[in-house]
Amino acid sequence: MSNIQQQDASLKFVTLISIVAAIGGLLFGFDTAVVSGAIGFMGDRFSLTDFQVGWAVSSLIVGCVVGAAFAGVLSDKFGRKRVLIGAALLFIVSCIGSALPDSFNTYILFRIIGGLGIGLTSTLCPLYNAEIAPARYRGRLVALNQLATVTGIFLVYFVNLWISNSGEHAWQVEYAWRWMFGVGAIPGIIFLIALLFVPESPRWLMKQGHREQAFTILNRIHGSELAKLEVDDIEQSFKQKKGSFRELFQSPTLKAALIVGVVLAVMQQFTGINAVMYYAPEIFKQAGAGTNAALVQTILIGFINFVFTIVAIWLIDKVGRKQLLMVGSAGMAISLIVISFAFNAAETNSTLLLVFLLIYVASFAVSLGPVVWVIMSEIFPNHVRGIATAIGSMSLWIADYIVSQSFPSLLASIGSSATFAAFAVLSLFTFFFTWKKVPETKDVPLEQIETLWQDNLSARTLQPVEYEQAR
Ligand code: GLC
Repeated sequence: MSNIQQQDASLKFVTLISIVAAIGGLLFGFDTAVVSGAIGFMGDRFSLTDFQVGWAVSSLIVGCVVGAAFAGVLSDKFGRKRVLIGAALLFIVSCIGSALPDSFNTYILFRIIGGLGIGLTSTLCPLYNAEIAPARYRGRLVALNQLATVTGIFLVYFVNLWISNSGEHAWQVEYAWRWMFGVGAIPGIIFLIALLFVPESPRWLMKQGHREQAFTILNRIHGSELAKLEVDDIEQSFKQKKGSFRELFQSPTLKAALIVGVVLAVMQQFTGINAVMYYAPEIFKQAGAGTNAALVQTILIGFINFVFTIVAIWLIDKVGRKQLLMVGSAGMAISLIVISFAFNAAETNSTLLLVFLLIYVASFAVSLGPVVWVIMSEIFPNHVRGIATAIGSMSLWIADYIVSQSFPSLLASIGSSATFAAFAVLSLFTFFFTWKKVPETKDVPLEQIETLWQDNLSARTLQPVEYEQAR
């Protein structure tokens, strides 16, 4: 095989594997968004109180926090692939289990089980993709996961719309919501079967001392010459390093990386995206839209999120992570300020609001949405990547819980204008934090990323030339 053919074949191989791992992202999007359509019917079926409605939505996120917390430890011990298979089983059990119950508490139990699955896959799918991808395409391949997530959200809006337009009200109250949850089992089963055919992460295999097996996989990705070098580099990166929790908090370089990972994770949520994702129809109704118009506008939000995630995938390995984050967070801040003013006016201008909400979602989709997951999966060195990424992902889910739980009461207490102004301030903070503290990781092989943190522990950009010399 010529060099070019070899490159082509290996890129296809890696893309295929990454798509498989990214189906986990689809389940993530589907499962977090499905409840928005089901909750109305469930409220009638189980005569839910306001508190129970909140719990019906947030129980899943509680499961996600726990799943993410265990993702690192479990996948370091049993391997990325085995834990992902376990997560697929949890998904399937949860989808079927949430569709069947006759008691609200049984439903909650199965939603928490689904949350455990999402917590695991949301951490491990990007991490697995990063560990298997060639440096040049890593951003793109990891960001596929976010594309799958937004596809899942978008898909669910249609499934919900379709199911809720069929049947009489009495049928819907008894069955529509059951179908909404149950349908998720189909991508769950596809995910499970597909996982049986993907290889284990070569970096995890090296950590276990399986050099030969790791080499075979890297050979398919890069060809034998590079694979040999890479196996040596990976081996070197594990030398005399234990990868313990204590090390993560004691080493100044690791601490610097952890701060960047956790702050970006929290900011991805504290800048308000899920207030819009989970409550969009309510926001539009508050601005005077009817129920149908609110639904159509929500679908538009899902569409823009999808389109601009594709733009991010196209740009992430060209312009880099940092530029995307800075442009995106600036765009989010500006649109949030306009949204805040739109709500403050004597009469809310609903067209202005829609246009700037779309600009806000587009700015998020091209930056914080995919880039934060990419950065979290790549800024930590091999020996601590599992636990460190899990801490970042757990922080993200806790922040998600806080925003989605408090958004309705924030609207009721300080009002829409002040709430969106607060999101604007936090977006500005994200802009400056990225500028000062986030290193550019584009094109840098995972084993070299560690060196980004060694210089005075702040952001710096390692030029490709420097990397070549370093090798
Ligand atoms: C990211 C966020 C998730 C959000 C989604 C929206 O994946 O982590 O919370 O719902 O983007 O596109």
